[in-house]
Amino acid sequence: MNILGISGSLRQASFNTALLLAAQELAPDGMNIAIHRLHDLPLFDQDVEEQGDPAPVTALKQAIDAADGLLLACPEYNGGITGVLKNAVDWASRIGKARKIAALSGKTVCIIGASPGATGTVRAQDQLRLILRRAGARTEPQGDVLVFQAHTKIIDGRLADARTREALGRHLQGFAVRLAATAP
Ligand SMILES: Cc1cc2nc3c(=O)[nH]c(=O)nc-3n(C[C@H](O)[C@H](O)[C@H](O)COP(=O)(O)O)c2cc1C
Repeated sequence: MNILGISGSLRQASFNTALLLAAQELAPDGMNIAIHRLHDLPLFDQDVEEQGDPAPVTALKQAIDAADGLLLACPEYNGGITGVLKNAVDWASRIGKARKIAALSGKTVCIIGASPGATGTVRAQDQLRLILRRAGARTEPQGDVLVFQAHTKIIDGRLADARTREALGRHLQGFAVRLAATAP
């Protein structure tokens, strides 16, 4: 089971990227999580799209195509998702010139998130779910990983909090079961 992990933060010391790294460690047997970085992804521009997808866009779409499911680590900026993540979703929701179906169409997505604040990115995660559904993706029906006060749980880039590690591991197990149940 190949899962593509994407962090909505470009920050070197990102809590959300750290959460993805923890997910790699805690994934159940048979689940492999590869992390795709968004640092090179250009801002969506329909004029550019009409010329053909730039290489980082093609790379993103191909990585999504190759994945059985997506694991999105969703930071929260001003009560919503980051521009970085929205930009990636916008590109991946588009057919572009070379495809018949958008990369996100029908893809199953599991959402997690971390914030130093008290709500663990719940508002951004809710928003992301709506946006993904609009783009034709399938979002996980239950369970959220909302890592609040992330600075007390993610230390030096490592998820150190035992309860959060257990919750994340359980969440990934559920994701694996549901993905297997819906596999074509
Ligand atoms: C522009 C901006 C807006 C933010 N707004 C929120 C917010 O609405 N809710 C929240 O919990 N944290 C907010 N934060 C704090 C982020 O959660 C924090 O910077 C977090 O570390 C970002 O995720 P990262 O560690 O993965 O980069 C905001 C940060 C920035 C830079």
